[in-house]
Amino acid sequence: MIPDKAPKENVYHGSEELKKEAHIPTFEKYKELYLKSVDSPEEFWGDIAKDFFWKTKHSGQFLDYNFDVTKGQIFIKCMEGATTNICYNLLDRNVHERKLGDKVAFYWEGNEPGDELTVTYRELLQRVCQFANVLKSQGVKKGDRVSIYMPMVVELVVAMLACVRIGAVHSIVFAGFSAESLCERIMDSQCSLLITADGFYRGDKLINLKVLADEAMQKCKDKGFPMEKCIMLKHLSKEAEESPQSPPAKRACPDLQVPWNPEVDLCWHTLLRGSSVECEPEWCESEDPLFILYTSGSTGKPKGVLHTVSGYMLYTATTFKLVFDHQPDDIYWCTADIGWITGHSYITYGPLANGATSVLFEGLPTYPDVSRMWEIVDKYHVTKFYTAPTAIRMLMKFGSEPVQKYKRESLKVLGTVGEPINPEAWQWYYNVVGEKRCPIVDTFWQTETGGHVMTPLPAATPMKPGSATFPFFGVVPAILNESGEELEGPGEGYLVFKQPWPGVMRTVFGNHQRFETVYFKKFPGYYVTGDGCRRDKDGYYWITGRIDDMLNVSGHLLSTAEVESALVEHEAVAEAAVVGRPHPVKGESLYCFVTLTDGVTYNRTLEAELKKQVREKIGAIATPDYIQDAPGLPKTRSGKIMRRLLRKIACNERDLGDVSTLADSTVIEQLFQNRCGAAV
Ligand code: WT7
Repeated sequence: MIPDKAPKENVYHGSEELKKEAHIPTFEKYKELYLKSVDSPEEFWGDIAKDFFWKTKHSGQFLDYNFDVTKGQIFIKCMEGATTNICYNLLDRNVHERKLGDKVAFYWEGNEPGDELTVTYRELLQRVCQFANVLKSQGVKKGDRVSIYMPMVVELVVAMLACVRIGAVHSIVFAGFSAESLCERIMDSQCSLLITADGFYRGDKLINLKVLADEAMQKCKDKGFPMEKCIMLKHLSKEAEESPQSPPAKRACPDLQVPWNPEVDLCWHTLLRGSSVECEPEWCESEDPLFILYTSGSTGKPKGVLHTVSGYMLYTATTFKLVFDHQPDDIYWCTADIGWITGHSYITYGPLANGATSVLFEGLPTYPDVSRMWEIVDKYHVTKFYTAPTAIRMLMKFGSEPVQKYKRESLKVLGTVGEPINPEAWQWYYNVVGEKRCPIVDTFWQTETGGHVMTPLPAATPMKPGSATFPFFGVVPAILNESGEELEGPGEGYLVFKQPWPGVMRTVFGNHQRFETVYFKKFPGYYVTGDGCRRDKDGYYWITGRIDDMLNVSGHLLSTAEVESALVEHEAVAEAAVVGRPHPVKGESLYCFVTLTDGVTYNRTLEAELKKQVREKIGAIATPDYIQDAPGLPKTRSGKIMRRLLRKIACNERDLGDVSTLADSTVIEQLFQNRCGAAV
């Protein structure tokens, strides 16, 4: 399935220097280990597990599972019988066994340039233990769910690991979500406590988070689920003496009006006073719940994806180490928010398990200007950098000058995640940001997969721009056609996985049936990703986008990502989103929304050029029927384009359904006004 030899033509390679120190230096080594990971998972993961601390060893099979709904309940169990504690493995083990106590765990860089803090592994361990004791004193017990709604501050990591230390289950809600979404998540996971902060700045914008938290708690109460306790961190409004560990931010806001309800609210800083810096970890079973994280579902109601202890720990640690080729002197920076799975796996769990030093960034790539990312890269000498295609495309709009103002000499590996990266953005990232020196790891995965599942390894895998290349260790992909038959060789269809890897989700919290229906019903025996995928003649995998974004034009399957990529390759286009609009003859026609590069105006000539461009890139079948000038696109707060809304706009359907995850609702009206073509 994986070719014996990697192709030599039209591929990019990691530098010789990188190969010298790499954990997996060659394609042959990757292939050899891959076969071992699939043929003898027990041995492969068993070797890895030796590096971790286990209170008791596992008994029985390493991975036990059923992926076939026709044979009974779906289940995945990894290392049953073993007991451990992830917090212990992330912190105590690094401080005591590996002597990394003085190593920096996080360089915190605030929203405002100049706001910064350094936290070592020893300090982090103490702070986590102290807060774990606070949680215990508030009655939080093993198995209880705790909701965390915080900005990107060190205390967010402290709060999550304090839960883990005492065996409580964190449910982090991204601080950009609304009160309504927070309420829905608190209620679905039946949380007994909420941890939040007074407020934070996002660029210039002040967000009074406590007001939103209160609104959410009020909604919970109205729906018959009163929250008894809320711990609030003072981030903007604290006095210097309140928190010796993290002094007030440079851009503080001492006058922030913070609503306070003495019956429910507790002050983070007051609770910590006198709390011991020692806390015995709670030893957990391998399959005990670790955390719940909500991800949007096609039905509208978010799904509480549940991950468990041992498998998730091994998987995030291993993917982090090998995909970013982690080395002890690395400075790693993932720009995601911890409120998303990327932040869970690749800011907190994976890096800390490896004793890595990371940058934890509170701000935005555009504040105070569009050079901020590169300024931070130089400031901390970042070696491994991980971001999203949407950020790359956004920065691309401003050209190379803001990038080239900074040296970026320290960079060694660049990563991307979240959606297919169009080759044009890939090239810009590779040529301009990485100066042709840094391999790009295009990591395909999902909240559900826990960690990377399809990805290059930076020194071993020759890259093709836009391809997530090959499976990670232990992952067995297949491509199915509509009838559920596995395709051999080149082809396109549904991306599925044939067996579990340690980090795959175990259930949808409180709704195992939904878990089985969404992921296992369509093709019994397989985990269905919901993504389309193409395999080329060299065996490379290319994610084509969500299957629900597939378009069928005159009987030809087209991926929206493919058309978007063609549009974005035009220098006038910064971003594009394509949806299908019902067509009486062709089935579907292509309706394209394009955001133009700064300074370019839309006109007929450009429209013709764009149509020609797509036709030339893909073929006449892909010629856009409609192109609409879209100064803004509807996006989720994590930056994903909401194609569902664009389909409604294209069809002039005003009933939009659930828009709670929409970041900026003003773009919608503008798009309706400028839509093209008569109503269908
Ligand atoms: C969906 C999962 C995994 C963290 C962020 C998103 C898309 C993700 C890639 C990639 C093509 C990608 C898929 C997937 N996706 N990474 N490298 N290439 N598509 O997590 O919100 O659970 O979304 O994001 O469509 O199914 P998520």
